[in-house]
Amino acid sequence: MGKQDWEAEKIARARERLLQWYERNRRDLPWRRNQNPYAVWVSEIMLQQTRVAVVVERYQAFMERFPTLVSLALAPEQEVLALWSGLGYYRRARMLHKAAQFVASHHQGNLPHSAAELRLLPGIGPYTAAAIASIAHGERVAVVDGNVERVLCRLQGWKAVSRATGGASLRRKIEALAADLVCPLRPGDFNQALMELGATLCLPRNPQCLVCPVASDCKTQGEHQTAPKPRMLSREVAHALSVRTGRVAGHFNREVLLEQRPASLTVMPGLWELPQLREAQVPEEELRLTVRHAIMQINYYVRIRTVFEDDIDALTLAAGLRRWIPLGEAAGMALTGLTRKVLTRLRLLPTAPLDAIAPQAEQNAR
Ligand code: ADE
Repeated sequence: MGKQDWEAEKIARARERLLQWYERNRRDLPWRRNQNPYAVWVSEIMLQQTRVAVVVERYQAFMERFPTLVSLALAPEQEVLALWSGLGYYRRARMLHKAAQFVASHHQGNLPHSAAELRLLPGIGPYTAAAIASIAHGERVAVVDGNVERVLCRLQGWKAVSRATGGASLRRKIEALAADLVCPLRPGDFNQALMELGATLCLPRNPQCLVCPVASDCKTQGEHQTAPKPRMLSREVAHALSVRTGRVAGHFNREVLLEQRPASLTVMPGLWELPQLREAQVPEEELRLTVRHAIMQINYYVRIRTVFEDDIDALTLAAGLRRWIPLGEAAGMALTGLTRKVLTRLRLLPTAPLDAIAPQAEQNAR
């Protein structure tokens, strides 16, 4: 389909304009400073489903701790999960870790070069394989993420449909057009240019067509409708905050009670969290903090209640292994994002980010 209306001249023009625009407007992101395949791999996995600003912050710490694929492969899973904290979707971290172990033991620690070989590795899908092969090795292969899909649908005037309602044939047309467009000389830059355009100008709402480098060849010029966002569900939950003073080797230490989510769970198995209360409602006088926390399509309205050690069994649902953890150690553990957020807002973690200094009333705002 792509080639019928994207004749050679139009393709050449789009490539040139996109690449020029990218050179002038690309964001200076840490993973763009080197094209090491391992670094590209880590950044692309992090960028799936997580905002760039969050990734920038977490990527640097992750790469300092695991500068090479082999260092990642050798690390204990709990440490990998701890460094993934804040990025969410922990399954990605587990798959990345497992795939690094596979490459370390079956490929002498070197990622294969071609997209086709990369695809054979556990945990590397078509998107990631194409991103690594094009950015790190200059292979002419198209990367199609959600942003690229939207850009190409708008350029062509293709109506976006949700995957559930027969998006497969549209997806094939998008992939064919992306494959025709990708620049053979600079495929990595070209792919990143299209993704960057979608992330910064060709936005789902409010596209910036006036400054778009390919607006003159675009069939919709911003009129295009994107598929409606799935509706968020809401849930109310409450967790217990129990802090006591423990004594280790003659030193007094404040400790918090944490529970490890069972390995059998599909969501965040093995991560540590505050024990969940049986009741989602908390008496006003016991309420320590309320926070909103979104996980996938669910908005959680979370109440945190202080619970004395003696009341823990009566008030909480026992689900997994519980341990009293010195507060100084908790920060380095594989905490759930919600637990880290709560402990940070209550200034119980030593390296509290700036937002923990905000007044309590604002912190409690939903
Ligand atoms: N989104 C995901 N990966 C990206 C990249 N390499 N450049 C721009 N946006 C992206």
